[in-house]
Amino acid sequence: MSELHPDLARILVPEETIQAHVKVLAHQISLDYADKGPVYLVGVLRGAFIFLADLARCLTIPHVVDFMSVSSYGKSTESGVVRIVLDLREPIDNQHVIIVEDIVDSGKTLSYLYTMLKSRNPTSLRTCALVQKPKEKQLDVPVDYLGFKIPDVWVVGYGLDYADKHRTLPYIAELKPSVYEK
Ligand code: PRP
Repeated sequence: MSELHPDLARILVPEETIQAHVKVLAHQISLDYADKGPVYLVGVLRGAFIFLADLARCLTIPHVVDFMSVSSYGKSTESGVVRIVLDLREPIDNQHVIIVEDIVDSGKTLSYLYTMLKSRNPTSLRTCALVQKPKEKQLDVPVDYLGFKIPDVWVVGYGLDYADKHRTLPYIAELKPSVYEK
């Protein structure tokens, strides 16, 4: 295996573990939605694009892929405001919708999207996240399908970035604190 980038402290979730678990999640979703009609997958840009691409290709049920993009201001503060930058292309009022996120950190993004999409009266609404940080300081938002619980560290790879770097690594790695504390 090639050497770790000097920004990275360690690999938290190896590529093989991610790929195996994505298959497990896709299998569970395929079972849960069998005979229910197409599932409307909503990927949250940009972080979820790799996870969604792999997840969707492992589904054995009909599905539609769409994306939303949101922007948060004051993310680290209590008053963080979320704003829609890119919306869905179609109404979802008769759809089984699953929001696909890369990470639930404070939970503000997923909580906002959940409430907002729920108000559009989908037939059903669930959430799927690749990783979730510890819940102590997190908004209470349901995560129906979860890849991995991770510690409260900065993670990159498999869609996750630090200042737009390391997003396309095939594994999830912990960033060295010295990189973001500079
Ligand atoms: C990241 C990530 C989630 C969100 C989670 O997005 O992709 O959407 O933060 O954080 P929260 O639970 O504290 O709301 P970011 O705004 O960094 O944009 P990106 O996906 O384009 O990197």
